[in-house]
Formats: sequence, structure tokens, C-alpha cells
Amino acid sequence: MEPSSPSLSGSGPGGHGGPGCSLFPWLLGVSQILGLVLVVLTGVWMGHFRGGFAWDGSALEFNVHPLCMVLGLVFLYGDAVLVFRVFRNEAKRSVKLLHAFIHLIALIISIIGVTAVFDFHRAASIPDMYSLHSWCGVLTLVLYCAQWLMGLVFFLFPGASSWLRALYLPLHGFFGLLLLAMAVGTSLTGVTEKLLFSIMPSYPQLPPEGILANVLAVLLVAFGGVVGFLVTREEYRRPPHPEEEALSLHFKTLTGAGSPTSP
Ligand code: HEM
Repeated sequence: MEPSSPSLSGSGPGGHGGPGCSLFPWLLGVSQILGLVLVVLTGVWMGHFRGGFAWDGSALEFNVHPLCMVLGLVFLYGDAVLVFRVFRNEAKRSVKLLHAFIHLIALIISIIGVTAVFDFHRAASIPDMYSLHSWCGVLTLVLYCAQWLMGLVFFLFPGASSWLRALYLPLHGFFGLLLLAMAVGTSLTGVTEKLLFSIMPSYPQLPPEGILANVLAVLLVAFGGVVGFLVTREEYRRPPHPEEEALSLHFKTLTGAGSPTSP
């Protein structure tokens, strides 16, 4: 059996082994506080400064859009990505199901959010898809749908062969992180656009709404950074379990290459 790498070994049950491991719960806590603050700030921005929420084609329907996007495509998306680091010693299949389930909720909330802005544009006769924000937004959402479907087919359908799964896993991981970066980047362009539409004349005087939105934007970057850090640190990965080690060996035999962590 292939020996596990030093950074993956040495974790006790339920613990997070390896160098720097004691930081994990703290960083995880920071990520959750940041995520909650993002949702609250967006809610206060749209609820307090922009008049609240409705589903009637008015500007209040637009307000559903940022809230759903930050909740779904940023906070819940980040949490779905983190489950493999949080539940490192639970059965892989259960964690995969939880990962897919949180992603599904995030996807549904995001689709509601995008529907709200299209519906508002239609009711107000505003053209669709003219801005950089809208192009990046649709690209992010389409990629997200594709990523979710590919994940379902490769990792949850019993039909997919082990070596195909192992081959696809690094791509899935790469696109997962790319999507997080795209969601944060798209949100930043959306925040800027909304500020320019809503408070352009007074923005240079730093009104409370402008400050709140700027803080939201900075925290969006911080959330992406903390989640990205937690996901890419080798010592926070799941330690290979016996059946995963077997798969890893199988992959190496087939490809003659170094193996990724098994799916
Ligand atoms: C990842 C998150 C987001 C995605 C995927 C996304 C996606 C989209 C899409 C596809 C549109 C175009 C609707 C149309 O053309 O009819 C749009 C519009 C808009 N979004 Fe977002 N959005 C996101 C986050 C945000 C956030 C956080 C804000 C902040 C307030 C925001 C503000 C706006 C504004 C002002 C518009 C209308 C102007 C335009 O079409 O560009 N968005 N969004």
C-alpha cells in the first residue's frame, strides 16, 4: 500500500493533524463569521437602505438579487466546499451527499436571485446582458450548473469507473476554486454597479450606504481568501482511508503517474 504523505498523516480521530493544524478551527470560525456578516450586511443594505424586498417587478424585487447571490453563490457555496475539510473522518459517501446537497440549495437560491433581476429588468423594460457584471454572472452560473451535474455523474452515480473519477477529481477541484473566485469577483462588480446606479452623486462624500457596501466588498474578498486557504492547505485534507488508498494505488497502476486524492 502506498505510504501516506507526512502532511496527511498523524491526525487522531476527529482531529486535524499536520503542521499548523491548530489554526484550522479558528480559521473555520472566521470563515463562518465572515459568511454570516456578508449575508447580514447585504440584507441591511437592501432591506434598510434600498427599501426592502418584494416579488412584484419593482425595484424591491431587484433587492432579492444581491441577497440571494451572496447567500447562495458565496456563503453556501463556500460551506459546501468546506465540508470535506470539516468532516474528515466521516464516511466519504455521507460527506459527498452533504456536499452535493448544500450545493443544490446554493444553486436553487442563486437561480431565484438571477430570476429576480431578469424579472425586474423585464418589468422595467431595462435591457438584459449588457454589462460586464451580467456576462460574468451568467458565465459563473452556467459553469456552476455544469460543475454540479458533472460532480453528480462522476462521484455519486455508481456507474462511473474509479479511474475516471480519479482522473476528473483534480479538474473538479480546480473549477470549484475558480467558481468561488468568479462568484466573489462577479459580486464585486455587482456591488460597484449598484452603488453607481443608486448613490453616484453622493458616493465621493462617503455616505453610510457607500461605506457599508465597500465593507461588504472587502469582506467578500476576505471570505474567498479564508475559504481558499482552508481548501488548498495540504494538512487540512482528508487523510486517505483504506479503500481510498486502494483506489489511489489503482490509479497509479493505470496511469503510471502520481495520484490525486481519491474522489
Ligand atoms: C455571484 C454573484 C452574482 C451573479 C452570478 C449575478 C448575476 C447577474 C446577472 C446575470 C445579471 C443580469 C440580469 C439581466 O441582464 O437582466 C445581474 C444584474 C445585476 N446585478 Fe448581479 N449577480 C451577482 C451578484 C450581485 C451582487 C452582490 C450585486 C450587488 C448589489 C449585484 C448587482 C447587480 C445589478 C445592479 C444588476 C443590474 C445591472 C446589470 O444587468 O448589470 N449582483 N446580475
